[in-house]
Amino acid sequence: MLDKRNELNAWDRDHFFHPSTHMGMHARGETPTRVIAGAEGVYITDTTGKKSLDAFAGLYCVNVGYGRQKIADAIAEQAKNLAYYHAYVGHGTEASITLSKMIIDRAPEGMSRVYFGLSGSDANETNIKLIWYYNNILGRPEKKKIISRWRGYHGSGVMTGSLTGLELFHKAFDLPRAPILHTEAPYFFRRADRSMSEEQFAQHCADRLEEMILAEGPETVAAFIGEPILGTGGIVPPPRTYWQKIQAVLDKYDVLLVADEVVTGFGRLGTMFGSDHYGMKPDLITIAKGLTSAYAPLSGSIVSDKMWQVLVQGSDQLGAIGHGWTYSAHPICAAAGIANLELVDELDIVENAGSTGAYFRSELAKAVGGHRHVGEIRGDGLMAAIEFVEDKDDRKFFDPAQKIGPQVAAALLERGVIGRAMPQGDILGFAPPLCLTREEADTVVKAAAGAIESVLSGR
Ligand SMILES: Cc1ncc(COP(=O)(O)O)c(C=O)c1O
Repeated sequence: MLDKRNELNAWDRDHFFHPSTHMGMHARGETPTRVIAGAEGVYITDTTGKKSLDAFAGLYCVNVGYGRQKIADAIAEQAKNLAYYHAYVGHGTEASITLSKMIIDRAPEGMSRVYFGLSGSDANETNIKLIWYYNNILGRPEKKKIISRWRGYHGSGVMTGSLTGLELFHKAFDLPRAPILHTEAPYFFRRADRSMSEEQFAQHCADRLEEMILAEGPETVAAFIGEPILGTGGIVPPPRTYWQKIQAVLDKYDVLLVADEVVTGFGRLGTMFGSDHYGMKPDLITIAKGLTSAYAPLSGSIVSDKMWQVLVQGSDQLGAIGHGWTYSAHPICAAAGIANLELVDELDIVENAGSTGAYFRSELAKAVGGHRHVGEIRGDGLMAAIEFVEDKDDRKFFDPAQKIGPQVAAALLERGVIGRAMPQGDILGFAPPLCLTREEADTVVKAAAGAIESVLSGR
């Protein structure tokens, strides 16, 4: 076993190009390789036998938890009966057609069709193309700009990496590209003017958006994209009236809204979709992660009836839509999606995300909210974050070189719990499987309190 482990470690350093990893340190063996061997419920186990409570559900995706026999069986059955057939020129499978129906049945009002992809990134790539196509068919070829937010995360392709508003994803990649623009993040805790109330700050964000649309010319602005609650940018719920105010600006200038629900779709906020939770009225919705709980790669762009009608006019004018992936609506992934959505209902995990999420955040607040280096505890549903500050009264942030967030995440892991040091700021994020129990939430809170004390006491 030890020989096998050493061999895997060597192959990993020499041959495996990991995403979002320090390439040099990893290749030189300066950072550890963790080889995951198995998982059950909310726990993962590595090849050394170490077990950890995964309080980030992989990458906020294993919503129903690990080891669900029902999904494994559905995948096996589909692979045996029909491993693949494409979806081009009107082809379908029972799995892909059934899953489309299940998604639209659960989606917010006014949604019509699902275009399937494999990742959140490619689904947003599809959305960009559909937005451009839509405005071309409507005879508005200049209406093409898409406004995203700083700290938004929408993928890491060329265009979707441009939509993303995080430095790490732009640096040395020549991103962001035109015609993508970024406006202010709805990040109340980090607002520049601390005298602003939450309501004033929501208005300020909407005003900044309107100024940008007017400066660019409304006839050139096609769409606005946002996650209902900022995820990778720091797990930041919007100010209470933010979406209502943003929606009013978008409606005024005929700008489409894309709700990126890759993280929030299928229950994470305690409602099936985050759009319903915050009263957003999207024209397109991006889904991925929770659609299959990551048992198989599958994403989708949910298209509103309003957009669908125009897209149909497009093919009446131009012929078949020139957009397709070989693996779109892959039957094995669709079978995983059906079994997963059935489990979401059977286990009542949407309700659990709301109730256990509220419990988890209140226990976190009780345990560490008073710590002098905890600036804010925030979240919604089963998403939570602890933001660390050097000085609470002055809201002075730590020098990023001190890597406080990564240190706390490492100390948490030593205590048997996985959280995520968010990439911009000293922020410890949690997004556990939606089947989390209160006892498991207690385990996370206890480990977090210990980790924070060990890294920050005496600073
Ligand atoms: C909100 C959001 N959109 C899009 C993506 C991109 O998804 P993927 O990594 O599957 O391409 C992510 C990934 O975390 C995400 O959080």
